Amino acid sequence: MNVYDSDRMADVLAPLGYESTQQAEEADLIILNTCHIREKAEDKVFSDLGRYRRHKNNASRNGKQTMIAVGGCVGQAIGEEILTRAPYVDMVFGPQSYQQLPEMLRKAELKQKVVELDFPEIAKFDQLPQPSAPKGGAAFVSVQEGCDKFCTFCVVPYTRGSEFSRPAADVLRESRDLAREGVCEITLLGQNVNAYHGEGGDGKEWGLGRLIRELAEIEGIKRIRYMTSHPRDMDDDLITAHGQVPQLMPFLHLPIQSGSDSILKKMNRKHKAADYLLIVDRLRSARPDIALSSDFIVGFPGETEDDFKETMRLVETVGYAQAFSFKYSPRPGTPAAENHSQVSEEVKAERLAELQDLLRKQQVAFNRVSVGQRMEVLFEKPGKLAGQYLGKSPYLQSVHVRSAENMMGKLCLVEITDAFDNSLAGKIIQQGNREAA
Ligand code: 5AD
Ligand code: SF4
Repeated sequence: MNVYDSDRMADVLAPLGYESTQQAEEADLIILNTCHIREKAEDKVFSDLGRYRRHKNNASRNGKQTMIAVGGCVGQAIGEEILTRAPYVDMVFGPQSYQQLPEMLRKAELKQKVVELDFPEIAKFDQLPQPSAPKGGAAFVSVQEGCDKFCTFCVVPYTRGSEFSRPAADVLRESRDLAREGVCEITLLGQNVNAYHGEGGDGKEWGLGRLIRELAEIEGIKRIRYMTSHPRDMDDDLITAHGQVPQLMPFLHLPIQSGSDSILKKMNRKHKAADYLLIVDRLRSARPDIALSSDFIVGFPGETEDDFKETMRLVETVGYAQAFSFKYSPRPGTPAAENHSQVSEEVKAERLAELQDLLRKQQVAFNRVSVGQRMEVLFEKPGKLAGQYLGKSPYLQSVHVRSAENMMGKLCLVEITDAFDNSLAGKIIQQGNREAA
């Protein structure tokens, strides 16, 4: 979501003459698009700011003005504190405000501090320019933002605001425009993407399944993905879409967070481990080759050794293609942070290591099975080596190949020759293009 937001910020700033640079020393404006989900992410903002302050001072000695902005969820949560702790910051704004960047800049150029933390009346989406199509043939399309679920560990409902779904007509128009510019893979984005309930073209509300079926009708769209989903919102229509819509890729990131019902209850997830396992079974009946991913939190307040063992058991039962796992990080203002049964750092670290070891083994096994298989890969970027291209398999594995020809944006049939922990290597069997592979 932050990658998408950063790209949109670049789109908003382009008409003002701004171009992106990866070199902070060159920048007239440095925007930190920040994440507040765990404490580590927040700490990083302050260490990065210290570095950018030096750029700003150096530029100023050379008679140049560099502006520093902190956007995103850290800006939203502690914007005022940032301006006090780092007074050289010129602007702070939240994830719902960046469509106002041109006005913010005008104000900042007059040496006024800019604080833009309100949730706007008019949806941000309606004020953003049409996104520019990425070169690699795969684009994000934001369909839903915010969250009303209030898991007790999570800051998202406070920083991103309440849930909002974009009207289907807007999503389809944006996707058609992207397809015309050569995009063949669309990833629908939302903090709770499968809670999507946008206004449909027929005056009714559409769920995500219906939206996906309509997207699949767009000429040129060969692949559809969505993230991130909540188990409570995996409805029948969405599950059957996995069996019926060939463009819907056989990969699903479906976070469960914990395998213990008592922890799930304390997390306010409103589902049990068995509900999740049933969804997994139904998904596998609809699409037998579907690969699954999840997020896990270890050391949530009150988590006992038995609770943790239940998470390990659930992982064994499901068998993941990949997954993300984190130590619980108490976030100010969230209910779980006030809980008195916090788990020690030492125990959290031990549990995380054990869980990650199992998840890594499952990922390696999943990658190994791919060797010898042929699969379609969409090449999205050049690799590190000369003549190397990096793409994604249907199961979201990174695949690299060597090719004398430019493979960017091409969907090709690839035979997998090698498997590594985090990627696959292959050779191109059939050169594709965006129309046929
Ligand atoms: N501590 C640790 N992990 C967290 N996540 C969200 N909040 C916290 C927290 N306070 C994780 C969840 C979520 C992912 C995006 O980040 O697993 O699914
Ligand atoms: Fe956070 Fe996801 Fe829970 Fe919403 S559903 S509160 S975004 S973890």
